[in-house]
Amino acid sequence: MSEIIIEGSRRLTGELTVQGSKNSVLPILAATVTARGENVIHNCPYLSDVEAALEILRKLGCKVKREGHTVTVNSETVTSSEISESLMHEMRSSVMFLGAILGRTGKAVLSAPGGCEIGLRPIDIHISAAEQLGAELTEKCGKLSFRIPNGLRPANITLPFPSVGATENLLLLASVTQGTTVIHNAAREPEIKDLADFLNLCGARIANAGESTVYITGVKELHSAEYTVMTDRIAGCSYLLAAAVTGGSLRLNNLKPAHIGAVIPVLREMGCSIVTERNSVLLNAPERLKRVRIIRTMPYPGFPTDIQAPMTAALSVADGTSAVIENIFESRFKHTGELVRMGAVIHTEGRIAVIEGVRTLCGARVRARDLRGGFALITAALKAQGKSTVTGAEHIYRGYEEPEKVLASLGAEIKKVDKNGRKTN
Ligand code: EPZ
Repeated sequence: MSEIIIEGSRRLTGELTVQGSKNSVLPILAATVTARGENVIHNCPYLSDVEAALEILRKLGCKVKREGHTVTVNSETVTSSEISESLMHEMRSSVMFLGAILGRTGKAVLSAPGGCEIGLRPIDIHISAAEQLGAELTEKCGKLSFRIPNGLRPANITLPFPSVGATENLLLLASVTQGTTVIHNAAREPEIKDLADFLNLCGARIANAGESTVYITGVKELHSAEYTVMTDRIAGCSYLLAAAVTGGSLRLNNLKPAHIGAVIPVLREMGCSIVTERNSVLLNAPERLKRVRIIRTMPYPGFPTDIQAPMTAALSVADGTSAVIENIFESRFKHTGELVRMGAVIHTEGRIAVIEGVRTLCGARVRARDLRGGFALITAALKAQGKSTVTGAEHIYRGYEEPEKVLASLGAEIKKVDKNGRKTN
């Protein structure tokens, strides 16, 4: 168990090169199972979720090597089709390996991923999509075994919800399904296009990825490729909010403004000045942020659910009352209880949070329960008066690469300690 200790009320200023995208590199690493040969993936961040994905690849028989931010995955010999229960529980989004393993070996054995702190995380859309391509599922005591007794067949699939993971699994499986598969109501997140660009480099024939209707003409097999993963738009937005809550300024040097298109107008409504160039975003925040009447989280290009928690923290000290509606996950307000312990005034009911801005928060010992909720506590602690200790910091390291170093480079007084209080490097 690690902790992050922050002495608040320091104004953050500076510039950043944002880490590679967790939510893009994970499906791309899964795709290396199907892309037979030596794959070289650049801009791969140091995250515990990435380490979990690399462990899954090793267990499947791939040879994995990491040199700095470059990971090499040789999938010439895949010797297993199973993801262990422990690895599934360590990272529930391992379900995105389904399409890759099934496409490469003709079978896949996973355990039901189980829920997490932000919701039940069902995989019914993944299962239905795989079945429409010819997969057959048998379920026993939480173990899901997929086979393709009669081979894969193309299909015209309409997703009931634009699920990011289900869209990614479909791209992975349909890429090696002879014939043309069409996905309607596909997720449009930028990470989908990043995955499709990698797969097309591997010989896939995917058209219109990033739009609602995607066309995949299957090929017999995919070869390996070298690729650079996109910038993490969620980490970038998180650091913008960390600077904004302290009345600071921050320039992100490698983020496409379009990737955070729904967040920029909200930051402007909060009183921030935002200047964008082709591949950078510059934020200057007012002394005190203004409230935002209502924020609704939506599938891309709407307001991203992954930014809801850090945004809620920033609004907790804004001038006025804001409302947030969480439309994507059913219980993604767990962080608000800890913010209230720091003096925030937040009322939640179901998917709605009403945030009455207060002038100051007080440092406290608070517990992170999930990744983005954990960064919300960091955001609040950066503004709070006095010292805060965020326990359960391992949740934060799932998706943020060395956040204590990034924030210290911007002027925060912050350190990471182990459970015995010893500073870790
Ligand atoms: C991806 O999760 C991201 N994770 C999430 O980021 C992100 O919040 C989410 O997309 C939405 O943008 C990765 O990419 C690794 P979904 P995913 O399938 O694929 C329901 C973070 O903090 N649903 O689009 O799991 C589901 O319960 C993480 O970085 C079904 O009902 O998201 C949820 O309510 C958190 N059945 C909604 O759809 C299914 O079969 C959106 O889920 C699948 C999903």
